[in-house]
Amino acid sequence: MKKLIIAIDGPSGAGKSTAGKLLANELGYLYIDTGAMYRAIGLKAVREGIELKESDALRGLCARTDVRLAQGEGGLRVYLDNEDVSEAIRTPDMGMAASAVSAQPCVRERLLQLQRNLGEGGGVVLEGRDIGTVVFPEAEAKFYLDANVEERARRRWLEFREKGIEAGLQKTIEEVKKRDYDDSHRDIAPLKKAADAVVVDSSGLNIDEVVAMMKEKVLEVAGI
Ligand code: DC
Repeated sequence: MKKLIIAIDGPSGAGKSTAGKLLANELGYLYIDTGAMYRAIGLKAVREGIELKESDALRGLCARTDVRLAQGEGGLRVYLDNEDVSEAIRTPDMGMAASAVSAQPCVRERLLQLQRNLGEGGGVVLEGRDIGTVVFPEAEAKFYLDANVEERARRRWLEFREKGIEAGLQKTIEEVKKRDYDDSHRDIAPLKKAADAVVVDSSGLNIDEVVAMMKEKVLEVAGI
């Protein structure tokens, strides 16, 4: 079977990561979480006390920063200058920091190249906001995963609780709404559905149902 490029875009909490990992597993594909890369840059900027909208400072930071994804035990690991930051980037604050730095052209240019290098050979599921529109507009299968905002925020909040992070449900709803707005209103590579993406609304669906729908579409595209 031809090694496809599969793009999954959508707002935060829509289930992209869980569905993307499962789909990649079923197909024997590599799973690439592009949001993790933005989170790693956001983490470094916060640690260095850099103003997240300060493009000159962020350009300098990008030039001396190495972001790497690698398969480790238990899944994908994220390395920032060789430090494993896989857990450190999963906080509510890092979600907001990632969203802020992701609006900066210098950050996007840098990560775009990395993402294309990782995916160009095919056999990959890439997940993010602009995969089907900007990173791989030629991807053979594109999905836009969505769910209503309350459900997405609730999923995020439950994930935080499982990790022992007390985020507050109302605050999580507000943050998800802000990220939805900011990610879809920025000038460069905003979150939007690619014209040829299949929309999957995961509200009220369980993850197995979501993955089954996606897999059916992928097999159809692959001519199986
Ligand atoms: O998917 P996530 O929550 O880990 O993403 C964190 C932020 O990174 C998100 O709010 C916007 C940004 N992002 C982006 O701009 N483009 C991508 N392809 C992936 C993430």
